[in-house]
Amino acid sequence: MSACLGFNFLEQPELPAPEVSQAQAEQVLATHYGITARAESLGSNQDKNFLVYDAADQVIAVLKIANPAFNATELAAQDAAADVIARAEPTLRVAVPIPNLAGEVATEVPGLLDGIAHVRLLRFLPGGTLVGAGYLSPRVVAGMGELAARISRALADFRHPGLDRALQWDLRYGHDVVAALVAHVDDPAQRDRLVTAADGAWSRIAPLIDELPRQAVHLDLTDANVVAARTGGTAAPADGIIDFGDLSDSWAVSELAITLSSVLGHPGSTPSSILPGVKAFHAIRPLSTDEADALWPLLVLRTAVLIVSGAQQTVVDPDNDYLTEQSGQETRMFEQATSVPVDVMVALIRAELGLSRPTEDLAAAPLTDVDAASMVTLDLSAVSDVFDTAEEGAYGSSFADELARSAIRTGAALVVTRFGEPNLTLAPLLSQDSPEVVATGVALWPADPVTLTAPWPGDVIRSDGQFTLRGSAYELTVTAPTEVATEGVGTGAALATITGDGWTTVSVRPVGSPIAPAFTTAELAPGWLALSRDPRPLLGLPALPDTRSRDLLARRDESFARVQEHYYADPPQIERGRRHYLMSTAGRVYLDMVNNVTVLGHAHPRIADTAARQLRRLNTNSRFNYEAVVEFSERLAATLPDPLDTVFLVNSGSEASDLALRLAIAVSGRRDVVAVGEAYHGWTYATDAVSTSTADNPNALTTRPDWIHTVESPNSFRGTYRGSDAHRYALDAVAKVERLVAAGRPPAGFICESVYGNAGGMALPDGYLRQVYAAVREAGGYAVADEVQVGYGRLGEWFWGFDQQRVVPDIVSIAKSTGNGYPLGAVITSRAIAEAFSSQGYFFSSTGGSPLSCAIGLTVLDVLRDEDLQGNAARVGGHLKAELTALGDKHPIVGTVHGMGLYLGVELVRDRETLEPATEETSAICDRMLELGVVIQPTGDRQNILKTKPPLCLDRAGADFYVAALDRVLTEGW
Ligand SMILES: Cc1ncc(COP(=O)(O)O)c(C=O)c1O
Repeated sequence: MSACLGFNFLEQPELPAPEVSQAQAEQVLATHYGITARAESLGSNQDKNFLVYDAADQVIAVLKIANPAFNATELAAQDAAADVIARAEPTLRVAVPIPNLAGEVATEVPGLLDGIAHVRLLRFLPGGTLVGAGYLSPRVVAGMGELAARISRALADFRHPGLDRALQWDLRYGHDVVAALVAHVDDPAQRDRLVTAADGAWSRIAPLIDELPRQAVHLDLTDANVVAARTGGTAAPADGIIDFGDLSDSWAVSELAITLSSVLGHPGSTPSSILPGVKAFHAIRPLSTDEADALWPLLVLRTAVLIVSGAQQTVVDPDNDYLTEQSGQETRMFEQATSVPVDVMVALIRAELGLSRPTEDLAAAPLTDVDAASMVTLDLSAVSDVFDTAEEGAYGSSFADELARSAIRTGAALVVTRFGEPNLTLAPLLSQDSPEVVATGVALWPADPVTLTAPWPGDVIRSDGQFTLRGSAYELTVTAPTEVATEGVGTGAALATITGDGWTTVSVRPVGSPIAPAFTTAELAPGWLALSRDPRPLLGLPALPDTRSRDLLARRDESFARVQEHYYADPPQIERGRRHYLMSTAGRVYLDMVNNVTVLGHAHPRIADTAARQLRRLNTNSRFNYEAVVEFSERLAATLPDPLDTVFLVNSGSEASDLALRLAIAVSGRRDVVAVGEAYHGWTYATDAVSTSTADNPNALTTRPDWIHTVESPNSFRGTYRGSDAHRYALDAVAKVERLVAAGRPPAGFICESVYGNAGGMALPDGYLRQVYAAVREAGGYAVADEVQVGYGRLGEWFWGFDQQRVVPDIVSIAKSTGNGYPLGAVITSRAIAEAFSSQGYFFSSTGGSPLSCAIGLTVLDVLRDEDLQGNAARVGGHLKAELTALGDKHPIVGTVHGMGLYLGVELVRDRETLEPATEETSAICDRMLELGVVIQPTGDRQNILKTKPPLCLDRAGADFYVAALDRVLTEGW
């Protein structure tokens, strides 16, 4: 090492950044580059950097004055490497040097520092680094991994004498660096932690050293040295690189370790946040198993090096503010990197890359003499039937106790849980953190005291509340036994007695693996489970197959038309719902803020009972004579004002709105229809024709059939007429109707949502429907209200949206809430219009109005009444709107909050003056909200509104959780 040609950290560990004034920098620019420009000092560890501004105050370049400790050959290597990368990866932006007046990329300035200063002017890459970008999304982290891989690939064959140096950042020396500099850290406890972490990491790296390929590495591709374009407040994946100052010949995998270590400095990141980056790197530059195994230890080492170097640099260079700024982030990196045992992260990385070795099932002597046939296995996963009939309180650990007791009452000798299972009874209903729910062992609950016997010979090691039997290959840990054997035991010896009425957990692992917590998060589970073994074979039970279905989306794509898109690029597998919660197979509970269809909440027991009862009794079509269809029609009609007293029953909103249009067309004898912009009414031929939303169909406005006439979306927030001018939308719409009449094409009808759900829950301007309905009726057409989304009590103060507008339509279409998720739609109109439709023959829908759908429809109306859900929508919705509006005081991105009751829309803007829609931000915010346990989606033509329309049973705690999560995302970044 000491023989290297370039800089050697171990010989010269103190390296303060050179002192150069702004005036001197400007002088260099003028003399050597012919540029008259302002230079502004920029933070740096060891060099001196200046941003160079042109006359218009735009940054045009970066002036870099190298630390005199680095020689010209090293700098030449850096310039050459930048050039190699720029050629190999033309779509990357690279901070290559700009030639000086003499046409050279390196400038030697005598007298600037003691001796000759090496100066370069580098291309400035617009956008910004990822420092201060707040939370980094999986997409951005994947982008960092991809960038590191592309650079690694480009530099794979790059050779240069200037790479022969020994920098403190070169992780080959990381362990020595920590040892050499740790004394600069003041806090003795922190010193111990650093040394322990570095020793632990090095003990994993050392055996792999000979297997780690070396090459030229940038060695500092961190958040501070990658540049990303920004759209509003959202960073795109990085596509630019700067600062080749640490370029060295070292282990290729260090590149990735260093890149990903910087992810852990960002708020919201946890160790598993690096995985998208690892995967992305591996896809371009495959990691060997040894490299994969070295990656996390190198990352840990890197974070320790940063802290000791920072401590040293503060001593050497006390006035360097940049260092103090960085230290908080570096502490976070170190804490995150050491928050999970190294071996777990190594196993997790292997699992992520598909490099895990298969684990063998345990074969050993039995742990008990209880007959396996008298054991009962509890399934506590999201798909287990046990939750079907459970009360909401089931989602608390005591439910598992009840299940165990009940199994024992029915004859079980021993109740056993499942290894590797995400246990839903442990999942908190509202939690921003991924909960610790995945079992790393099994739990036993015996009917009578049971003696556990040693499955292998070994030593018994006792510690607080648990003991471990360590054999030659495996060890077994048991918690909460009443009696424990003494020290060494042989196979079959009594170990402990476990008593009834309580759980004892048993976990098994190869000797040397860390003892897992009883439950871990879904993110860390593949790591912990790879280091654990299913103890069930010790009980004479088969090990459970790994049923995690990673390929579900791929299978979906193969069989289900892809145009039926799914929420989220990487969606959780949701297999259960309850009230306003959704449960994933990974054992996470999400707050559901988008499901307006399940108006009563998910899996409502009264709906389930009704459905089961009716399916056992009768389900047929409405040509038969049965009571449910009559009663439901009566009850439905009774919710509407006169003359809306006659009901058609169908299966969906599309069918309902389609039929509504057909009624208007048939009864008026006309063919033209007026619709509003930004609308969605369904997928059938006619409803698609009146669907004008460009979010649902980018070509919507240019492809409407000639019988559709669109009036402008009456958007009083950002449309042509805003605020008090919004009344003019009605005048324009009326004028359009009059023009149609004048052109001899009077409309059959006008269709519109009565509160503008598709536009984000926006109220229509006061008087809008009154004026447009009047004009349409005057022209002989019919007023059609699409209440599919907004009706049925969601608006709180009003049961129907048209009540809010103080009008009565001629034809109303409804669905979604009507069946609480069961397919049930309806059209309600006047007797006169319904009768006139008979000119079209009879109307029949095989399942519309079936006994089952009517029975469900009746129960929905009952529950709405019995649980006062409309009242709840008013109360909780009012509170929610106030809280969301208050967020606007803190976060300028909140442009406004539309809506009423529990149909709200949080409109996000980049600028409150221009109202530039924050489209990319909204999408990224929704992704981050999911990570924090909230399901929420964008809506509106600009996809910049959080459509907030949860089940009407949402309570205040749920509303507050949503607001808190949104506040956090808007604060930390997305
Ligand atoms: C306002 C409106 N009308 C009609 C429909 C179509 O309903 P369905 O999906 O039940 O066919 C929708 C669906 O999103 C809607 O939002």
